[in-house]
Amino acid sequence: MQYEQRNPVPLPDIGAFESVPSPMNTVFDWEYSLKRQNLLNLYEKGKLATWNATDLDWSTDVNIEKLTADRSQNGSSDVFAQLLDPPQKLDPTQFTELNLNINSWMLSQFLHGEQGALLASAKIVQSVPWEEAKWYAANQVADEARHVEVYHRYLTEKLGRSFPVNKHLRVLLDQIVSDSRWDMTYLGMQIMVEGLALAAFGLMKVEWPDEPLIQDITTRIMGDEARHVAFGVLSLEEIYNGELTESEMSEREEFVIEATHLMRDRLLMEDVYEYMGLDPKVWVPWSVNTPFMQGFRQMLFSKIVPNLKRLGLLTPRVREEYGKLDLLRFEHLKDSSEDAEVTAPAELLEIIMKLRGEVASAART
Ligand SMILES: [Fe+2]
Ligand SMILES: [Fe+2]
Repeated sequence: MQYEQRNPVPLPDIGAFESVPSPMNTVFDWEYSLKRQNLLNLYEKGKLATWNATDLDWSTDVNIEKLTADRSQNGSSDVFAQLLDPPQKLDPTQFTELNLNINSWMLSQFLHGEQGALLASAKIVQSVPWEEAKWYAANQVADEARHVEVYHRYLTEKLGRSFPVNKHLRVLLDQIVSDSRWDMTYLGMQIMVEGLALAAFGLMKVEWPDEPLIQDITTRIMGDEARHVAFGVLSLEEIYNGELTESEMSEREEFVIEATHLMRDRLLMEDVYEYMGLDPKVWVPWSVNTPFMQGFRQMLFSKIVPNLKRLGLLTPRVREEYGKLDLLRFEHLKDSSEDAEVTAPAELLEIIMKLRGEVASAART
């Protein structure tokens, strides 16, 4: 691959490189028992499903400014005002800018999360004791490198604007890669971060039906991510259903709760408001309190909740927290080992379709 850097991704406050110490053991499996058929099946599936970034049509003319401005001129700024009740009136140009920035911010966090997944899955290769899990994790490493490649190229070549890693996401990724316990790497990455990403990718697809390149990218990446999350569920259920002590399980509970708060906080989008010169003291409370924004954040947990339930981690303590955040309504959805299709949650679709439907009808009048 030949690459010419265009529109580089801006650096976070801590600079270009960050070294995170990690006391993790490197574990050989000299037994090669290969007794986990479900992981071997996933490994075969992963190898067959491999695609290349060059399979995508990079000649697609992505004019996201025009798509967004058209929506804005078609009256969606009125719809925005009606549905979202923003704290300050925005003219159509500001509305377009806000949308463009939110879109590139979301995709930038996908990029940074993918780099986290690349490093976390490499750590699983190193630390998980089972040979067949190492094989699958190695397949995931290759997937994640491609995801970083593709999002980076889309952001820098096609959108031309991007954001540094969000501070809450960075704290969470640092925690995941610095923990010495291999199951915590899985729990943080495959269950929490990738679980959230699956729902967020679903949203991206519904939001941009008129942008074929991001549709193709998202469809391919979602297919890979569905396997990665299933890998987490299949691996962890073996040790979470009986192998750990009560105090070890309560450490996992604590981690789930902390990770949930960090992921929710990153979705407040204060970076976007700061970048646009909108007062975060006005806009962040709006992110927190507006029913639409609350609904949007909750939807992103729709894949995580059923997986935690399957792993026995919807304990009374986690339930109490999730009850406060109104996340328990997702507990009856299919978990990721049952739902390979990654159906977007009906409620999420409804919210987006409502917004798009309103936009379309505003455009007709
Ligand atoms: Fe990925
Ligand atoms: Fe992944």
